[in-house]
Amino acid sequence: MTYAIQADGLAKRFKETRALDGVDLAARTGTVLGLLGPNGAGKTTAVRIFATLIQPDAGRALVAGHDVVREAGLVRSLVGLTGQYAAVDENLTGTENLLLIGRLLAMPRRDARARAAELLDRFGLADAAGRAVKTYSGGMRRRLDLAASLVGRPSILFLDEPTTGLDPRSRGELWDMLRGLVAEGVTALLTTQYLNEADTLADDIVVIDRGRVIAEGTPDELKSQVGGQVLQVRPVRAHDLAGAHALVAETAGTQTQIEGDVITAPVNDPELMPAVVRRLDGAGIAVGELTLRRSSLDEVFLALTGHRAEPDSSGEPAEPDDSDIEKVVSSA
Ligand SMILES: Nc1ncnc2c1ncn2[C@@H]1O[C@H](COP(=O)(O)OP(=O)(O)OP(=O)(O)O)[C@@H](O)[C@H]1O
Ligand SMILES: [Mg+2]
Repeated sequence: MTYAIQADGLAKRFKETRALDGVDLAARTGTVLGLLGPNGAGKTTAVRIFATLIQPDAGRALVAGHDVVREAGLVRSLVGLTGQYAAVDENLTGTENLLLIGRLLAMPRRDARARAAELLDRFGLADAAGRAVKTYSGGMRRRLDLAASLVGRPSILFLDEPTTGLDPRSRGELWDMLRGLVAEGVTALLTTQYLNEADTLADDIVVIDRGRVIAEGTPDELKSQVGGQVLQVRPVRAHDLAGAHALVAETAGTQTQIEGDVITAPVNDPELMPAVVRRLDGAGIAVGELTLRRSSLDEVFLALTGHRAEPDSSGEPAEPDDSDIEKVVSSA
């Protein structure tokens, strides 16, 4: 079977850092593959290899069956890239940015104009089309960025943390746009640190950490892989919290947490809940809430890696790169 996106044993080093250390992944045509991982996991490195911006040291990456190194030119004509950092020119207007890319793609002027207008309209930017991008909000820039990656009508899209820094409404709008594209048959690889984003959008998820795949499957499979359920216990009396936590931790024998006045424990064993009830009862601890719920992808991640997936707190790009799109299209 030919996958739209495929990596076999992909490896890339930057001096001492193994950014990718033998990654396998595959996305079927017309699906969304979520590439999930914390800061420094190797997500951007993988995307840059697929977009032909850098070359792997070992292994191979294929786009629609074409090798990204040996058939780089062909691959560039198939893919669109929305980089982690905005790639549009601040001083140009929305229209000018899209026209510039159309020209880099050697589109006839009339086609480039029509395509720019169509995309600006589709992404709700028609009213702002004639304004310099520096006057755009973060959400508008992100939408223009996505529009920019679509000028050449790519069938395969790489979206590197497209919603980082967006408010919930703008994020929802971007999700809807991506769903629309996928409904038209586009395949997307979406990197994210927002676990609910992968849960919402992705058909399949690959979780990487320090350059290695640590888990993969559908969102549901991942959830069930780490127990799939979470026990929540809230003691009636606040002063029972520590005692109840100790009891739950002892019974569960796994990573337990206190969030506010609620104790949570991943559940892998159906016997756990009755055992916890018996022990709490025996200790005379009154319980106000005792529930089993499906684990969130956040908890799945914590269970898999031993640490949470923290969104980038610095807000500063480790490696600023605002020339991704230009590089992709100009060398096509
Ligand atoms: N050009 C480079 N030179 C040196 N080290 C690099 C370079 N690019 C990436 N790295 C290192 O490789 C590792 C993986 O980086 P990468 O950007 O792929 O991670 P990421 O998953 O995209 O992280 P983030 O969520 O912060 O964007 C990190 O340790 C990073 O510091
Ligand atoms: Mg990155």
